[in-house]
Amino acid sequence: MDTRRHLRGIGDLDRAALERLLDLTDHMAEVGRRANPKVPALRGRTVCNLFFEDSTRTRMSFDTAAKRLSADTMTLAVGSSSVNKGESLRDTVETLGAMGVDAFVVRHRSSGVPWRIAEWTESSVINAGDGWHQHPTQALLDLYTIRSERARRLGEDAGFEGLRVGVIGDIRHSRVARSLTEALGLLGAVVVHIGPRTLMPPTPLARSTDDLDGELEDLDVVYLLRMQNERMDAALIPSGEEYTRRFALDPQRAGRLGEHVLVMHPGPMNRGVEITVDPTTLPGAVVTTQVTNGIAARMAVLFDLLGGVETEVSA
Ligand code: NCD
Repeated sequence: MDTRRHLRGIGDLDRAALERLLDLTDHMAEVGRRANPKVPALRGRTVCNLFFEDSTRTRMSFDTAAKRLSADTMTLAVGSSSVNKGESLRDTVETLGAMGVDAFVVRHRSSGVPWRIAEWTESSVINAGDGWHQHPTQALLDLYTIRSERARRLGEDAGFEGLRVGVIGDIRHSRVARSLTEALGLLGAVVVHIGPRTLMPPTPLARSTDDLDGELEDLDVVYLLRMQNERMDAALIPSGEEYTRRFALDPQRAGRLGEHVLVMHPGPMNRGVEITVDPTTLPGAVVTTQVTNGIAARMAVLFDLLGGVETEVSA
């Protein structure tokens, strides 16, 4: 029987598993606030970061998370230009696997790669972003940020039931939007996708609209996505200026947000495109908190998948 577990997409979780990971993230966040934010939980385990696509925060975040749990880490950073699919990817995974890897953390520009890798190795596989498809740890850190910031600001853990979240931008090409929408749906939140019609997915994942101004006052969370230059070049939107005029969080729109509204962005931010207001001036902006929480969320995932097995050997 295959007893390995993976986090390849939100589909690997149900509501109970998601809530358990959020609780575990809370515990890991507490570890992160200690003077010595390191625990021996994954001593003797090896986490291999396989990044076939550029990344700053996700790669550093996974690396830090593994180290805070005392796991050993291996990192292979491959520029997307040198990626060869098929056999060579398989060879890479098998070679690294032969060195004794407990979990592969994978980012790849092709959708589905983490599922393929899980067929080729004995290790657990964690998806750190595959194509336009899934980015489950981003969703987890975002959910945790929403939950903990609302509890801190509103003084109660109101939960996700009925929470209104507007995800704004290029939903169609966004693995962040896909994972986040699925995860919020599991917890009972109400998601609306806001952006140009040409950037909505062919199969709707949520209600969608191109009228940001008509939605703004109904939202509890404003989640901005990065507007990728490639999309502008591909003529999916008339121009960057037009996008900014209709969909950016500008000072006027920011002024219309209720005091309790959280403003989020997965990073990297395109200032002047999807956001023209300095987020540090917005009381609801939690963009850097998201980054901080990313470490705790990834510690939770690593511990959930790799912990609980005897790792001690007598000296
Ligand atoms: C996102 C990604 O790479 O999927 N960034 C991230 O992981 N924080 C979003 C993006 O690149 O726009």
